[in-house]
Amino acid sequence: MPTTVSVPGRVEVLGNHTDYNGGRVLVAPTRRVVTVGLKTTTNRRVTVSSDAIRGGVWRPLGALEPATGSDAWANYVLGAVEILRVEGIELGGMRIHVSGDLPIGAGLASSAALCVATMRVILQTCGRRMPSRRLAACAQTVETDFVGVPVGPLDPLSCALGRPGRLLRLDFTREPRVERVAMPRGWNILIFDSGQRHALVSSQYAQRRRECTAAARALGVPKLGLLRPTQFHRRAPALPAKLRRRARHVVMESARVDAAWRILGRGGAAAGIGALLNASHRSSQDDFENSHAAVDRLVARLRAVSGVEGARLTGGGFGGAVIGWVRRENVPRVLAQLAADGGTLPRLLDLV
Ligand code: GLA
Repeated sequence: MPTTVSVPGRVEVLGNHTDYNGGRVLVAPTRRVVTVGLKTTTNRRVTVSSDAIRGGVWRPLGALEPATGSDAWANYVLGAVEILRVEGIELGGMRIHVSGDLPIGAGLASSAALCVATMRVILQTCGRRMPSRRLAACAQTVETDFVGVPVGPLDPLSCALGRPGRLLRLDFTREPRVERVAMPRGWNILIFDSGQRHALVSSQYAQRRRECTAAARALGVPKLGLLRPTQFHRRAPALPAKLRRRARHVVMESARVDAAWRILGRGGAAAGIGALLNASHRSSQDDFENSHAAVDRLVARLRAVSGVEGARLTGGGFGGAVIGWVRRENVPRVLAQLAADGGTLPRLLDLV
């Protein structure tokens, strides 16, 4: 029997592009998961297969290099095996199989979940332990160094630390601080596919990172997330218009996370989180320019439906998923209205 481990993805509720800027983020784990099964073998190979892709990829044990071409999908797994080898944790031969229902490439951190799940199943199989934060840091290194995608720390940390039904607030001001709060009773996050594939590698994600670094330098701070809105507004006139808009997005997103956290902490009117989502999306459109026409159309469509308190893009942007903040009792009515409004029914990716 294989050993199996399942890890959820994450949905970013507020705090867009704040993680690598030393700001705050509010996320929820998805219900959908990536599952990785591992069987030890007597041959000296790592073999990777997946429910989603025909054929397997295998490599002899030892130092692993990233796969290229049509085998590149296996790199999150190969990279996880490799980083554990470098950390001194090596199994013999193994067959690794990837399954689960978390959509891939939809902006729900499926790649981070896959790295974390692969590392956990290997550690479990050889009776070793690694603290979740260390595991998350290794998963990030797999993505940045082995796969070559310039992701921030948000996704692996959220996947490694997420608990069902609990929102996570991550504060990246210094060493990441993580707090949990229950999802407000009677509320759901609906996650839809915009239909526009989001591809971090080819998107303008790296460019936005560079712009944020340039804005921080021009403002004389190590990271934009360290600025409170009042401090930012005082210093902002010194910035060229584009960098000012990029920086404003980051600073105000963190402020919106703080505002949401106050609502959640007080057990207050959770409907107010909807307005924060709407403001966040406007900021993505106007200031950070990381939305997409298909995403904007879906957000506008959701907001036209009664019962949706707020909607925004989630994750890196430039396509990907859209979320709506909805009272649980209104979910069936919202889905029925979307089915009847004349447009193609967007794919519901998850309901948290
Ligand atoms: C992607 C990255 C994260 C984060 C978000 C935007 O999901 O992987 O690190 O930057 O975009 O908030």
